[in-house]
Amino acid sequence: MSITIRAASAADWPALWPIVEPVVREGETYTYPPDATSEQARDLWLAEPPGETVLAEDGGVVLGTARLGPNKPGHGDHVGTAGFMVAPAARGRGVARALALHAIDWHRELGYRGIQFNAVVETNVAAVHLWQSLGWRIVGTVPGAFRSPQHGFVGLHVMYLDLTAE
Ligand SMILES: CC(C)(COP(=O)(O)OP(=O)(O)OC[C@H]1O[C@@H](n2cnc3c(N)ncnc32)[C@H](O)[C@@H]1OP(=O)(O)O)[C@@H](O)C(=O)NCCC(=O)NCCS
Repeated sequence: MSITIRAASAADWPALWPIVEPVVREGETYTYPPDATSEQARDLWLAEPPGETVLAEDGGVVLGTARLGPNKPGHGDHVGTAGFMVAPAARGRGVARALALHAIDWHRELGYRGIQFNAVVETNVAAVHLWQSLGWRIVGTVPGAFRSPQHGFVGLHVMYLDLTAE
């Protein structure tokens, strides 16, 4: 597999929606409204500058996507954030790892001091494992802050990668 990562635009949405839709409908990993329409999801997922939405593709087949940018405006905009979604059929092949490494480079090159994940669902073990393996640490967990359709009230981790350490 040879993964290429590039900026995504509105023209890519027809290829991104089949990746985003199952994540939104399942409602186990993000707080997007589970009944969001394609148009609503597009407006939430495609970032405006200074943020950027990217996609990962292999031979023109879109496998995953990430949303990058400042976590907060104003005096919080030196810390970035990111979200990631991979097509169900493409999971477990390193697509999210490649996107996360791209996200780290992207934030580093733009001078961000760290990358904060605000709401990693604690039952999302694959994601927690992946982020920790790349250096993110769990800063804290808000108990019961997420209503999982499968597991009930579960915690949301705040996770942080310090980019000033090296
Ligand atoms: C989380 C997600 C982005 C991971 O994408 P992916 O392309 O499958 O991830 P990768 O293949 O790059 O890496 C997955 C890692 O998790 C591990 N993993 C997979 N399933 C796992 C499980 N059940 N328990 C523990 N680790 C698991 C893999 O072994 C791999 O780790 P490794 O590289 O050390 O072997 C993808 O599952 C997804 O889109 N989920 C829905 C949306 C989501 O949860 N986004 C993240 C929100 S924080």
